[in-house]
Parts: sequence; C-alpha cells; structure tokens
Amino acid sequence: MSERILVIGACGQIGTELVEALAGIYGNGNVLATDVREAGNVPDVPYRKLDVLDQKGVAQIIMEFRPHQIYHLAALLSATAEKNPKLGWQLNMDGLFYVLDAALEAGVGKVYWPSSIAAFGPNTPSLNTPQYCVMDPNTVYGISKLAGERYAEYYFKRYGLDVRSIRYPGLIGWKAAPGGGTTDYAVSIYYDALQSGHHNCFLREDTLLPMLYMPDAIRATLEMMHAPADQVKIRSSYNLSGMSFTPTQIAESIARVMPGFSISCEPDYRQAIADSWPGSIDDSHARADWGWKHQYDLDAMTADMLHNLKTVKGIGKP
Ligand code: SER
Repeated sequence: MSERILVIGACGQIGTELVEALAGIYGNGNVLATDVREAGNVPDVPYRKLDVLDQKGVAQIIMEFRPHQIYHLAALLSATAEKNPKLGWQLNMDGLFYVLDAALEAGVGKVYWPSSIAAFGPNTPSLNTPQYCVMDPNTVYGISKLAGERYAEYYFKRYGLDVRSIRYPGLIGWKAAPGGGTTDYAVSIYYDALQSGHHNCFLREDTLLPMLYMPDAIRATLEMMHAPADQVKIRSSYNLSGMSFTPTQIAESIARVMPGFSISCEPDYRQAIADSWPGSIDDSHARADWGWKHQYDLDAMTADMLHNLKTVKGIGKP
C-alpha cells in the first residue's frame, strides 16, 4: 500500500509499536514519525521533532507531507495530568484541535485518535461497562478524553472528517516504557519480577481494571483503521476489551511461572483514579461492527512479557 502515514507522539508507549507495524504495512519511507523528543526511539523511518502545541508546526508538517492517514497519539496520561491539570487539558485538547483542523484543511483521508477507559467515571456501571452509559470522568485526562470523543464525532458528522477512535483499556507491552498512567503498575510488575522478585504496587490488591496486551491493541487499531468506513459505525470511540485483573491476580499469574514472586500494596493518589474507572468492559459493538477478537489472556500475556523482557531486553540478567 503506498499511502503516506503521519504519526504524532511516535515515541510513546503506543507510538513505538504502532510505527513499527505501520512501517511493515506501508513501507518505512511512507511513515513519518514525529514527537516532542529530540530523537526517535522508533525504528528506521523518517523522524521530525514536533510539539503538538505548536499549531503552525502541526499545520506545516501536514501540508508538506500530505498524509493519507494521521495517528495522533500525543497526550498527558492520567497520573501525569493530575499533577499538572492545566497542561493536561491544553495538550490533550488543543493538540487534538490543531490536528483535526489541519487534517480538514489538507484533506487528510483518515485520522486516528485514542480515547480511554478514563472517559468513564464513578457513576458509570463498573462491570461489563456498556458502550453507552453515564460518563462522568473526574480526572483531567478522562475529561479531556470524553470531550475529545464528542469532538471526534462532531468533526465526522459536521465536516465529514473520517475520525476513528478506540477507548483503550490499560495497555501492557515490553517494547517501550509507559509514561505516567494509572494502569502502568501492570508493566512495572514484570520488570520487578525479573529484577528483584518483588513488586510494591501503588494500587490496592483487589483493584479490578480492564487491560489489553499491546499486540492486541495494535492489531485492533489497524483492523479498525482498515475497515470500510461504513463498518465504523461509532464515531465517538469504541469500547475495547481483552482481559480484566487485579494486582493479586497478575501477581498470581507471574508466580505460576516464577515461584516465590511476591507483591505488597501501598496505594497512593492513583488509587482514587483507578477506583473511578470500570473493572470490565463490554466491547460487543467493536466485535459486531469490525470483527474485533482479542487473543491474549492474562497467562498468555505473562508468558510473552517475561520471555521478551528476558531474551530481547536482557532484563534480570546479571
Ligand atoms: N492507561 C491509561 C492511564 O492509566 C488509561 O488510558 O492513564
């Protein structure tokens, strides 16, 4: 496929893996990776430094590169945004508007923008959370995601811009470090398992959260982006689910293959964030509309994470 693809926020947890997958599909030369960081930790694709709050810079890169598709991933995640609420709102919302407006102006074919389980809130039904229900997020990150979802749908309906979105659960991967999320304990726990055999968790042991292994998340994103436009019926953002577990359950999964692994819990300010989010997600719309099906359950993810962290990243080796 000879489409040009622009990725904004390419050096983050999702971007690093998505760029690699996109380069495999469209060719390295057709994927332009951008991020606020100086240099890319992305694979061998062209790289430009771009601050998504630089409105002119965003418009210029889109006008010059003329992408067929944009993946706009730059955001401040939940825990980081709570530390700097003004910047969280500004980066997550202004950045989105700059990208949507420039995409419209340049006639970009499709735009991808991720939402999150953080768009739900304390009065949302917490088990098997439906696509449509009370959404009263109480974090800056969640409020910005819900507002962004409404605008994604608005730009689609009012201007015909083909914006597509998924409400990601907590994402777990081994290739890139996560940055400032409440679900990120579920990544650190694997590093700790290999490095010290013990993890001190910032959430309570019974905190149930929806999670997804990164290969599933990347596949979902690409399957939705490749689906015919009329199959993408939801233009705010799709519920998506893979598995749900608590800190105790992920620790048990690790201990099954690494006997002796232990966990302790010292909940901090992130507990309140996690408590406001659902425990599990009903993603039947994604399954019906564009055929979503997850592959990894908790034990399959544990096996793959530990294997790759050990053999590819060398974690835990003396
Ligand atoms: N993983 C994200 C976070 O914890 C949720 O989208 O902030």
